Amino acid sequence: MSTRSFVLFARRIVTCDPARATETDPLGVIEDGGIAVEGGVIVDVGPREDVRARRGTLPVVSGEPASLVTPGLVDAHTHAPWVGSRDAEYALRLAGAGYEAIAAAGGGIVASMRAVRAASPDEIDRTLSARLRRMASLGVTTVEAKSGYGLDEAGETKQLEALERAAGRLDLPRVVPTFLALHAIPPEARADRAAYIEAVRERTLPAIAARRLARFVDVYVDRSAFSVDEARPVLSRAKMLGLGVRVHAGQFADVGGAELAAELGAASADHLEQVSPEGARALAAAGVRAVLLPVASFTLRQDPPPIAVLRAAGVRLVVASDANPGTAPTESLPLALALAARMYGLTVPEVILGATREAAASLGLADVVGVVRPDARADLVAWDLPHENALVQPWGVSRALFVLRDGAPIAGETPFSPG
Ligand code: NIG
Ligand code: FE
Repeated sequence: MSTRSFVLFARRIVTCDPARATETDPLGVIEDGGIAVEGGVIVDVGPREDVRARRGTLPVVSGEPASLVTPGLVDAHTHAPWVGSRDAEYALRLAGAGYEAIAAAGGGIVASMRAVRAASPDEIDRTLSARLRRMASLGVTTVEAKSGYGLDEAGETKQLEALERAAGRLDLPRVVPTFLALHAIPPEARADRAAYIEAVRERTLPAIAARRLARFVDVYVDRSAFSVDEARPVLSRAKMLGLGVRVHAGQFADVGGAELAAELGAASADHLEQVSPEGARALAAAGVRAVLLPVASFTLRQDPPPIAVLRAAGVRLVVASDANPGTAPTESLPLALALAARMYGLTVPEVILGATREAAASLGLADVVGVVRPDARADLVAWDLPHENALVQPWGVSRALFVLRDGAPIAGETPFSPG
C-alpha cells in the first residue's frame, strides 16, 4: 500500500516548512495547493496549478479538494504501553486526596506497575494497539511511548518488547520507544534506593541498549521522585550507549531538572510547571526543547508553566498528551492542543508547530515527519475543519477525515477509490 502514488489537493495546506515560513505566516500555509506522493514519500508541494502541471500523470485523491491538510500530528510524550485502570485512585483525588500522597501510600505509578507485571505480553499488545489506533483516529501519526511501569528488568523489557512489536506494524502510528529508567522505586527496592539505581544503570540499561529496544532514556526528576544526583549517572550512561535523553522536570517542584537536561544536551525537558528563568535560559542555550503537558497540569489543578519566561529565553516549545493512567487520563493530543491554547495562552502557530515540526525534532525526526515538504514521509491528515485556527477548538471529538502514514490510510475514511 505504501507504494501508492497520488496527488492530494487542498484549499489550505499547513506545511510547517521553515523554508515557507514568514513572520506573518509561521506555518507556511499554501492556499489552494497540492501534494504529490510517490512510494510513501512526498515528492512535490506547491500551488495547485504548479503541482498539476508537474505531476499531471498521477491519480488525484477524491473529487473535491480537502479543506485543510496538515502534517500528521506527532505526540512527543506518552506512557502508552500501560494496562489496568486507576479509576479508584481518581475518585480519591476528586474527593481531595493529593497525587503525591496517593503515590507515597503505594498507589500511583506503583499501582500501574502491579498491573503491568501481572499482564501477559498479549494483553499489553492488544491494549497498546487499540490505544494507538484511537490516537491515529485523532490525527496522530507518530507516538513517542515510554516504559516506566515495569520497574524491574522483566517488566520494563515486557513493555519495550510490546512497543517493538507495535513499531513493526505499518497500520498504526510510528512508534518511538523510550526507556523510562527511573520513574518510581518499586516496593521490593525501597530499603536500598542506591542499589536500585545502580542496578538500572549497570544491568537493565545496557541490556535494553544492546537489544536496541529504546531510542531515548527518560528519568523523572522531582521532589517525590529522583534527584539530579540520582538521575545524572543513569542519563550519562545512556548517552555513552548512544541513546538520546529526555527528562521529566519540574512537574511539582524545581529541583534542577532543567539544568540537568541542559548539561546533558537532552532532546527535551518535559512538564516544567516549575522552572526558574536560569533553568529556562540553560534549556535555550543547550537547544533543549520544552515539552508542555497541559492535560497533566489540568488534571492536577496546577498553574501553567511560566510560558512567558520560556518564550523570552527562546526555548522551543512542544505540546504533547502525556497519555497515562494517573495524571493525564486521555489519549488525545488534540485535547492537549486545545488546552495549550486555552490554559497556557500559546498561539495557534505555536500549538501546531509544537505538535508537528518541533515535536518531530525533539524525537530526532526533523524533516522526516511533522512537515509537508519534498523528501518527508507522506504522513498527512485531512481535517473536516475550515482553517487551522479551528484545530485548537474542538473538545472531545475527532475532526480528522482521513489519516495517512507513508501515504497509506491508517484511520478515518479511505480517500482512495477501490482498485
Ligand atoms: O508524566 N510524572 C511522572 N509520570 C507521569 C505520571 C505517571 C503516573 O501517574 O502513572 C507524568 O505525569
Ligand atoms: Fe510523563
